[in-house]
Amino acid sequence: QSGYVTLDIGYKNTGATKSAITFLDGEVGILKYRGYSIEQLAENSSFIEVAYLLIYGNLPTAEQLQAFEFEISHHTLVHEDMKKFFDGFPSGSHPMGQLSSLIGALAAFNPASLKQGLSAEEVNLEIIKLIAKMSTIVSWIYKKSLGHPVIYPRNKLDYVTNFMYMTFGQRTEDTEIDPVVVSAMNKLLILHADHEQNCSTSTVRIVGSSDANLYASISAGISALWGPLHGGANQAVVEMLQKIKQDGGDVDKWVAKAKDKNDPFRLMGFGHRVYKNFDPRAKIIKKACDDILEKLGINDETLEIAKKLEEVALSDPYFVERKLYPNVDFYSGIIYTALGFPTEMFTVLFALGRLPGWIAQWKEMKANKEPIGRPRQVYVGETNREYTDIKNR
Ligand code: SDX
Repeated sequence: QSGYVTLDIGYKNTGATKSAITFLDGEVGILKYRGYSIEQLAENSSFIEVAYLLIYGNLPTAEQLQAFEFEISHHTLVHEDMKKFFDGFPSGSHPMGQLSSLIGALAAFNPASLKQGLSAEEVNLEIIKLIAKMSTIVSWIYKKSLGHPVIYPRNKLDYVTNFMYMTFGQRTEDTEIDPVVVSAMNKLLILHADHEQNCSTSTVRIVGSSDANLYASISAGISALWGPLHGGANQAVVEMLQKIKQDGGDVDKWVAKAKDKNDPFRLMGFGHRVYKNFDPRAKIIKKACDDILEKLGINDETLEIAKKLEEVALSDPYFVERKLYPNVDFYSGIIYTALGFPTEMFTVLFALGRLPGWIAQWKEMKANKEPIGRPRQVYVGETNREYTDIKNR
């Protein structure tokens, strides 16, 4: 029913991927990481604890978590020569293009990652480095977009606080980061941390299956996530809401456009390849939206438009019949805006959240010694044709 034709013709069965990391049931809207519900993790855990859970399979003890955070905090510095890549990007180049290039470039600064047959410890060190450096690189991308100097990590801060400090801090002062902002960011990153075999995760697995290094595999996943039908939707949602706002907030008109088959416009943040019920993450983010905007005293008209759009769409037979509900991207951009991020940074934040999931899935694929990915096809093209000279065509 997934639309794949499983051909078992002497190749290993090209059926569904076997994984023990994330379970989701799209019919009833269930999402679990290693058996823990997304609701419980979003409410009680931290992003770095969830990263540990996804990558190593269990919730850490206090000692394990402390060691994990200590390791990460000692690899947050990025080689100064990486700045030459930054200086090469024209100003205004999309942060996702920068991120995929920079993460791929990390292999050049970590030559050990190119070795075949790395030990478990050597692989784990590359994993730690990648988690640590990704947050620094994401903050650098934001600073570069402003033309501001980068801020170096403060290793005594926890992972998310350190990221927010590097992103919004100023060199001239010891910026204090609001714990309300850190809590909201932790929740958002947890909600994006993994989602079984989605487009970008499948990309990471298939690239990794050729024995390409970890950085190249993750860089490929970042490129896949960039698409507006996938991770790029969070940016597209806020741009859509802003368009509706400029258009006088007429949501009925835009819902009609989304239904019109002659109009390429789709309601961004609605629908899903698997969820044919409410995306459980959307429910949590919608509530978090209300909380964070209230705590920060922000009145964001786009949230009101989003709620009205959801209400109109969910009472419209076109959306109900097609089981199109808000997905994780529908409300996330409103919170990112409240936290101070510009729209072009939203998908990069999705990638930062998804990183532990990509790593866990890449690690599982390696541990399972899966063969190189080789999806098969059903050939429907021309059969036998004879070559004709160009003057006779
Ligand atoms: C993510 O896979 C994952 O897990 C992804 C993700 C993750 O965590 O990794 O959850 C993150 O990518 C979420 C999705 C973000 N994308 C968007 O919000 C973009 C807008 N959504 C759509 O483009 C669409 O819903 C997709 C891409 C998400 C799903 O596309 P499908 O599977 O092709 O949609 P479908 O075949 O189930 O559509 C069925 C019908 C079609 O109409 P009919 O041919 O039956 O007449 O619903 C229509 C579609 O045209 N439709 C929409 C619509 N989404 C589907 N119509 C209007 N607006 C939409 N958003």
